[in-house]
Amino acid sequence: MPVAPLPIVVLISGSGTNLQAIIDAIESGQLNARIKAVISNRPGVKGLERAEKAGIAAKVLDHKNYETRESFDLALQQLIDSYAPELVILAGFMRILSEDFVNHYNGRMLNIHPSLLPDFRGLNTHQRVLDAKRKEHGVSVHFVTNELDSGPLVLQAVIDINKNDTADSLAKRIHKQEHIIYPMAINWFAEGRLTYNNKQTYLDNQIINKPPKWINNQLEY
Ligand code: GRF
Repeated sequence: MPVAPLPIVVLISGSGTNLQAIIDAIESGQLNARIKAVISNRPGVKGLERAEKAGIAAKVLDHKNYETRESFDLALQQLIDSYAPELVILAGFMRILSEDFVNHYNGRMLNIHPSLLPDFRGLNTHQRVLDAKRKEHGVSVHFVTNELDSGPLVLQAVIDINKNDTADSLAKRIHKQEHIIYPMAINWFAEGRLTYNNKQTYLDNQIINKPPKWINNQLEY
């Protein structure tokens, strides 16, 4: 029996290239999901245009109209829940989330972070990786918990750093990887292959201790 598409809500703050990759993967049949709404905390961003173009509800909830983080997060939670998603996707959503919000979506919120977590949490990861003279860089999909950029890992993509790479070139190369692995991880969840219980992730019922890695266009387990 065909499985119904997974209802998702995507949160963005900017250009939304990951959102676009998710839209494209759904349209091409690679991702069995349905985006119920795209919500941005910033008005006028490109990601909202992308949503509208794809015929998806595009909503703005401007954090500047709220006095506290908690009041914004509560309004956001209510807006998200009005679409009854089974999974919430953070795709370049540039906000620190309050504890209650994160707990509310425990096990049903994913983020993508441009580093090989647990290394290089936070911002400016590409420059920091270069400064640290690393040979490899990457990007991680993880469930969101209350520690910043450190929830249980689901999937990573890894690239070699070339001697001519700059922060800009790495950003571009990493973005390409993001657009492959984020739809892939969401589809695992949609198919029931990816599950989460008590801060532990499972793929096909096996505990994910070390996340699968997407390297040179293939998955390594
Ligand atoms: C990506 O680099 C992602 O890893 C980070 O925010 C950026 C979003 O880019 N969390 P875009 O808006 O999807 O283009």
